[in-house]
Amino acid sequence: MQQQVRAALFDLDGVLVFTDRYHCRAWHRLAKDEGWTFDAQLNDRLRGVSRLASLQVILEHNGLTLDAAACVQLADRKNRYYVESLQEMSTADLYPGARELLRSLRWRGIKLGLCSASRNAPEVLERLELSQWFSATITGADIVRSKPDPEIFLKGAAALGMARHNCVVFEDAPAGITAAKAAGMKCIGVGTAALLEEADWVVTNYADLPLDELFGVERQSAPA
Ligand code: BG6
Ligand code: MG
Repeated sequence: MQQQVRAALFDLDGVLVFTDRYHCRAWHRLAKDEGWTFDAQLNDRLRGVSRLASLQVILEHNGLTLDAAACVQLADRKNRYYVESLQEMSTADLYPGARELLRSLRWRGIKLGLCSASRNAPEVLERLELSQWFSATITGADIVRSKPDPEIFLKGAAALGMARHNCVVFEDAPAGITAAKAAGMKCIGVGTAALLEEADWVVTNYADLPLDELFGVERQSAPA
């Protein structure tokens, strides 16, 4: 497999940074404002899902239907809560070993792409000084169809000039793993195995990844 892998496409929230917790908190705050039910299990169903689609999942769970204008207002309020909370974000929110993993992959000559449904991804990357690692960044603003549609990963591969069979995806979301498989790519699931059944490997600690086996050892230039 290592002969073929030439690029890694990373999701952001819950894969490189624990911003999944900030999304969860923002939805929880909105649900509290509105008197809706919201719990960890429901939150897991929102991983990788776009802002408006996430709101639909929460509304359905609460047996509610709202018009489009009301949905946009609610989604905007959730986003204000989320963006506000990013003020608290620091390098302590980085997934353990994430920066070292990016450095090691670049050292091996693997091209890196960021493929996140979040329109806030560029701000998170900048704040944590992660932007420099990625040769391409595709966000929710660049796609028409959300994960589990493969569009975001196909665009990421194209932006890096890679064929789909040259790419491996890192994902924490069931919807993201489905998207990676639909794109014809291998997928490393990040987090607890129970949520990530479709993944080719599951990892909770990046230090446990057999990098030589998965990505080869060819050394090329990497940023300091
Ligand atoms: C994904 C998150 O990365 O981005 C989802 O897993 C989130 O929880 C989605 O809804 C969209 O993010 P944003 O920042 O554009 O609302
Ligand atoms: Mg994610």
